[in-house]
Amino acid sequence: MIHTLARPPLPPRRAPGPGYSFPGQRLLAFRRDPTGLLMGLAQTYGDIVQFRFGGRTAFLLNHPDFIQQVLVTEQSNFSKGPTLHRMRVVLGHGLLTSEGDAHAQARRLVQPAFHHERIAVYAETMAAEAARTGDLWQEGAHFDVAQAMNHLTLRIVGRTLFGVDLSGQIEKIASALDDLFVLSDPVHVLLAPLLAWLPTPTARRFRQSRDFFDRLIYGLIDARQQNGPAQGDLLDMLLASVDAETGAPPSRQFIRDQALTLLLAGHETTANALAWCWHLLAAHPASEAQLHAELDRVLGEGRLPGMADLGNLPFTRSVFSESLRLYPPAWVIGRSAVDDCVIGGYSVPAGATLILSPWVTQRDRRYFANADEFRPERWLAEERNERPKFAFFPFGGGPRVCIGAQFAWTEGILLLASLARRWQLRPQSDSPISLAPRVTLRPKGGVWMEAHQREK
Ligand code: HEM
Repeated sequence: MIHTLARPPLPPRRAPGPGYSFPGQRLLAFRRDPTGLLMGLAQTYGDIVQFRFGGRTAFLLNHPDFIQQVLVTEQSNFSKGPTLHRMRVVLGHGLLTSEGDAHAQARRLVQPAFHHERIAVYAETMAAEAARTGDLWQEGAHFDVAQAMNHLTLRIVGRTLFGVDLSGQIEKIASALDDLFVLSDPVHVLLAPLLAWLPTPTARRFRQSRDFFDRLIYGLIDARQQNGPAQGDLLDMLLASVDAETGAPPSRQFIRDQALTLLLAGHETTANALAWCWHLLAAHPASEAQLHAELDRVLGEGRLPGMADLGNLPFTRSVFSESLRLYPPAWVIGRSAVDDCVIGGYSVPAGATLILSPWVTQRDRRYFANADEFRPERWLAEERNERPKFAFFPFGGGPRVCIGAQFAWTEGILLLASLARRWQLRPQSDSPISLAPRVTLRPKGGVWMEAHQREK
């Protein structure tokens, strides 16, 4: 009789990656060209790359199975990581930056604001606000559409989640947010605890902006407490909530942390995705014509799009998907390994940083034919079903998946539909737009366009 013995698994090995670098060398390279550095590492070393980064061992994961392992199947072994924890100097223990029970409690509390029925109510506000923006554009006017999208999404988040019109505060919010974005610089992230007292101009501006957001959010909370509940929006839900165990209401700080997180996470990302949509459409007239044909067919002359139209706008959705693929606003997602583990047969020690990058994986030729090309029709075709789930993950995945994903899809499609039905935007120059990869993937210097009323 022949006995076959199961082969013992191979002991985990060190993952491939670049050798020694001078202390800080890679941090500086990342500061100079973060997307280029990550793409270069993936192209040179493959699906998992090990390197030293910011004094830690880091791994770049570029395979959908590894991404799924970290975000979903073994998610409890991966915490949010040091960069996000340092953002607590601004966001406190909001949904984005909390962990464990605190995160589960916050998620339970905030979730009802994103239920399907609520999104259907928000959809009307989204279309109405887009129409208001479209009414203000003028034939031949030159403007930065990235800024216009930012203002529009901020007004929408203000009205839908907080029941207020933030129009009067928009410039101030945008510039205060820029000051807080110093935290996207890896060097400033290391200095985050010092920003509270450093006497430098950057640190001073950072503190002023954080104070501005405190005043804004506490002002909204106070006004709501004085005037009573509105129509069951996010602020009402937070103020009416009680701790499941003690029955006590949440602290003001807790409400502030959740509200500020949603105000900030809820507008800048979608605005960037839309800014890239306009840039891509202007550079691809055939796709733009296909979009216009769909909008004319479905919406006719003067009707605003609504929730019921979403299923009838597959090409509009594909344009938004393709923009999220090529220019994912959350271009990098970080985690930290809690315990030693094995990924793809390679050993990952406790404390290591895991870097997952939609920017890198979503441009991988194995999953997307002609990966660098803007081809919205790829989302309509069969190839869509053949792709591994985590080859496209602009909203992350697992228990920390973006809570606003449905909000963002609805908003992206409705805003694009409302505005592109009436307006065609032409670039002001042929120069390519460079990336400003900060907390989100912004177009550097904006996206300057000239507006033209569409002739139908
Ligand atoms: C195109 C638009 C958006 C993109 C690409 C995006 C992307 C993401 C990603 C990738 C994550 C997961 C981060 C991680 O796992 O570390 C996330 C989390 C989150 N997003 Fe979004 N997001 C968008 C829009 C929104 C909107 C509209 C809202 C709210 C109105 C929002 C609120 C949040 C919050 C609160 C979290 C933290 C969720 C948690 O940890 O439980 N996002 N987002």
